[in-house]
Amino acid sequence: MIPILDLKRQYEQIGKEIESEVINVLKSGSYILGKHNKALEEEFSKYIGVKHSLGLNSGTDALHLALRALDVGPGDEVITVAFTFVATTEAIGIVGAKPVFVDIDKDTFNIDANEIEKAITPKTKAIIPVHLYGQPCDMDVIMDIAKKYNLYVIEDCCQAIGATYKGKKVGSFGDVGCFSFFPTKNLGGMGDGGMATTNSNYIKERMIGLRNHGGSVRYYHDEIGVNSRLDEIQAAIIRVKLKHIDGWNKKRRENAYRYNELFSKYPEVVTPKELDDTFCVYHQYTIKVENRDEVHSLLQAAGIGAMIYYPVPLHLQKVHEYLNVKEGALPYTEEDTKLVMSLPMFPELTEAEQQTVVNNVITCLHQAQLVK
Ligand SMILES: Cc1ncc(COP(=O)(O)O)c(C=O)c1O
Repeated sequence: MIPILDLKRQYEQIGKEIESEVINVLKSGSYILGKHNKALEEEFSKYIGVKHSLGLNSGTDALHLALRALDVGPGDEVITVAFTFVATTEAIGIVGAKPVFVDIDKDTFNIDANEIEKAITPKTKAIIPVHLYGQPCDMDVIMDIAKKYNLYVIEDCCQAIGATYKGKKVGSFGDVGCFSFFPTKNLGGMGDGGMATTNSNYIKERMIGLRNHGGSVRYYHDEIGVNSRLDEIQAAIIRVKLKHIDGWNKKRRENAYRYNELFSKYPEVVTPKELDDTFCVYHQYTIKVENRDEVHSLLQAAGIGAMIYYPVPLHLQKVHEYLNVKEGALPYTEEDTKLVMSLPMFPELTEAEQQTVVNNVITCLHQAQLVK
């Protein structure tokens, strides 16, 4: 059995340090918005290369509160992709705005930045590029369009902590960067958590209020907010893990290149492409194959934890029926939804395990062809 991700192996390396930090928090009597949150916010800002970071309950809240802080709401349109996790568009829906979908690029799984301009209307207020699977979007083109049309950019970096575009970390390009500490992420907590990054003092102040019932002074409330604070136990755990993230991301990249090499003899497997001048952090290693569903079932039966992210594109989900975007509207999104399959990927994955995964993918591919 080779799982898609094995967090137990990570725990073997850093468990002792985490246990000691958690015990210290338990003994401290300070559990929410305390010294670890403050220290993590500073360390995170330094790591990403921004002025401010704000600890939140989740990546979803980072997206939602970013939209609130920028006054995106009913009547506004937000351009994004349908090839992402639902939280991206859920945040748009929560504030009462409308998602407008742009197709993905045929090679990188990310928004086709050259298609964005066609989707802009007088109602467009923001763009949410999603750095899917750890791969940075084409930020130069996106930022130029945003500047030209006076649009906000909120980067969904939930899968891409540490990824860079032309040497700059994702989360430092747009008005706000949104990160998730969901346990399976490259930098995961041991519960839910998230972070918003920004260079704007105004957005920082607004989000400080929004995450804490709409006011920055206790018991004084300026607007409707939410309860979305990062707890001290998560902040302490994430601080320990932040020290390792570059090493872990490097190992993920090495594993990705090893997979590329092992698959290079098999043209029937399309391996992931990177944009020039980017540093992809391979939250997922995602291939494209024909007969994907059969191959996936066979792999699962063989004990290989392959996964499909995501089986239904967002424009065809029930929750978005009201948008009336029909099948066929986003050809590359729809095509990739049928072909993609993510393989086991984590820093501690061994070379022997990768070879086993590749052997199984090829065997299952051939079996699936025979069944057809
Ligand atoms: C692309 C993307 N956006 C948003 C989120 C939401 O993050 P969270 O689960 O922390 O709310 C996730 C992760 O789950 C994600 O993968």
